[in-house]
Amino acid sequence: MTQKKVLVTGAMGQIGSELTGELRRRYGSENVIATDIRKPGGILEESGPCDVLDVTDRSAVFSMLESYGINTVYHMAAILSATGEKHPALCWNVNMNGSINIMDAAVELGLGTVMIPSSIAAFGPETPRFNTPQETILRPRTMYGVTKVCGELLGDYYVKRFGADIRGVRYPGIISSETLPGGGTTDYAVDIFYKAVEKGSYTCFVKKDTKLPMMYMPDCIKATIDLAEADRSSLVHSCEYNLAALSFTAGELAAEIKKHIPGFEVTYEPDFRQAIADTWPATIDDSAARTEWGWKPEWNLENMTTDMLEKLRAKN
Ligand code: NAD
Ligand code: SER
Repeated sequence: MTQKKVLVTGAMGQIGSELTGELRRRYGSENVIATDIRKPGGILEESGPCDVLDVTDRSAVFSMLESYGINTVYHMAAILSATGEKHPALCWNVNMNGSINIMDAAVELGLGTVMIPSSIAAFGPETPRFNTPQETILRPRTMYGVTKVCGELLGDYYVKRFGADIRGVRYPGIISSETLPGGGTTDYAVDIFYKAVEKGSYTCFVKKDTKLPMMYMPDCIKATIDLAEADRSSLVHSCEYNLAALSFTAGELAAEIKKHIPGFEVTYEPDFRQAIADTWPATIDDSAARTEWGWKPEWNLENMTTDMLEKLRAKN
């Protein structure tokens, strides 16, 4: 079997940082190159090869993939929903041109599997909000969502037109304790844990009854690598797998944390991110992922909350 030589873009981000660690454990540290527009530091730098890479710089993308002899890419560099609404042109440039550069390189350099994430942000207010189907209306209202739908369509085009092996899931909001989220609408579901541990109180930027699909990081990493390693012949879809684990309201999350920190106080002061959250689904039908590559989440609200609080208390 060919030795995997993996490049992770956006490796300093919330998902990329933990994904890189797991990929290095699986394939050997020297075979996983962590890159980001910010100079990778900390444990990423200590545990394996790192480089600075701006994914919008086409010639830098091609020369880095060639110089490291890369055959597998996890493309995690992106601008997320809230930052994307503040800087739509930047969001389009990074998310679209970055992804096109990676997809073109996949074809021209003959790479193997390339993972390019989509998001629940691909959906919009006309999408069925509960048990959102795999095939459904994709009319997002954010620039971030627009780039995710375009990315899915483009990935599918590259698969069918050029035979590239591009795959991806529509991640729900990801909750984790290692690296802070990078400017999304679901960030409150992470911030709430940090503030619960640090201050015993939290001002939440979405309403108490806002219900969104979420996932704990260990499930996110497992799903990502499981899809990357799935037998291509069993995959009917490519870049747009619905993926689900948990769905809860901000109030239900606060109540779960309160079981561990009885004095925890949450107030709700919705800001511009409420309007984004209101266009996203509450629950997702991920049966295609379950059928085609065996997806099954392992974490629920109770055991995730216990684990998050333990990890954050240990950091403090
Ligand atoms: P993040 O914002 O935490 O990290 C993104 C990283 O990309 C950052 O480290 C940033 O420095 C880097 N970056 C920005 N511009 C760049 C450029 N021009 N070149 C190279 N790197 C650049 O994002 P994340 O949460 O880790 O998300 C990873 C992927 O998963 C993205 O495609 C995102 O849309 C998707 N996703 C994430 C979530 C979530 O809840 N975290 C949910 C749905 C989808
Ligand atoms: N967590 C992401 C965001 O809120 C969803 O793609 O932007």
